[in-house]
Amino acid sequence: MENLDALTSDALQAIEQAQDIPGLEQLRVQYLGKKGSLTDLLKGLGKLDSSERPQAGASINAAKGKVQDALEARKLTLSAEAAASQQIAEAVDVTLPGRRQSAGGLHPVTRTLQRIESIFTSAGFDVVQGPEIEDDYHNFEALNIPAHHPARAMHDTFYFDSGLLLRTHTSTVQVRVMEKGEAPFRFICPGRVYRCDSDLTHTPMFHQVEGMLVDENATMADLKGLLVEFLQVFFEADLDVRFRPSYFPFTEPSAEMDVQCVSCKGEGCRVCSQTGWLEVGGCGMVHPNVLRSSNVDPEKYTGFAFGMGVDRLAMLRYQINDLRLLFDNDLRFLRQFSEGQGI
Ligand code: DAH
Repeated sequence: MENLDALTSDALQAIEQAQDIPGLEQLRVQYLGKKGSLTDLLKGLGKLDSSERPQAGASINAAKGKVQDALEARKLTLSAEAAASQQIAEAVDVTLPGRRQSAGGLHPVTRTLQRIESIFTSAGFDVVQGPEIEDDYHNFEALNIPAHHPARAMHDTFYFDSGLLLRTHTSTVQVRVMEKGEAPFRFICPGRVYRCDSDLTHTPMFHQVEGMLVDENATMADLKGLLVEFLQVFFEADLDVRFRPSYFPFTEPSAEMDVQCVSCKGEGCRVCSQTGWLEVGGCGMVHPNVLRSSNVDPEKYTGFAFGMGVDRLAMLRYQINDLRLLFDNDLRFLRQFSEGQGI
């Protein structure tokens, strides 16, 4: 009983200093719980003289009441503080601008492919696909490039252990279409091709579009007319186009087509290696051996074929000066193509 005042003021002080609700609960147990110090005092009343008991009981109960009130008050304060800080932590500034969903866009190569397809489709060509993993026969042999032919060296082929390979050009699809179908043929085949090569103007994977027309009277003049028309529609410009005699095992005669460099308008720059021209592909009249390997009668049918670099066409159309930008997936670059003018 001598300590009651000290005990009470200790309790009140501890309650005032409690930092959180669990701490407060501990204090309640410590003073008012079943084995709490104030409860103990009450239990001890029996040992007192009966004359002292009422007085002492009243004092203890008063102390208990004070401690209880202090606990209640502190609890209210602590809960209010907790609610306030939670509110601050979870505050949402509704005046901030929202996060917009940004619209995706087609990759410049995809747009170019779609553009090429739409132009050739309107000229009556089908669009077909072929496998990217090929065999030696379709990539070389049936295209008049037998084993040990020097042209194989130019292809920097990726081979699998099984002897299969990643197609080095889309010309494979000429063979696949002809061996399955019946002449006449008129189709393009856009797709990925692979060569073990990498620098400013070469990436190990790139895109080509192959085109083929096989009919009874297909001529080199038809080929030239078609390609010049295509390039002018594609670029929406009267660009110079030139055909240089060239050699491909699967065409005879063969030519390479160049289009005037759009970057420098023919003056000579880094993009065109100072030549003023950009090579966009090869073409020619289909070699009779190629027709024959795919069961097309070269006495009855003639054909022309062409293969163009799609990435180069994309670079020219969108004035991109480094081929590698097309494959780096840098959003700052790609976003420039996400909106606007169709394909
Ligand atoms: N396949 C050739 C290459 O990748 C391109 C090519 C040249 C395709 C002449 C043709 C063609 O169809 O007639 O270099």
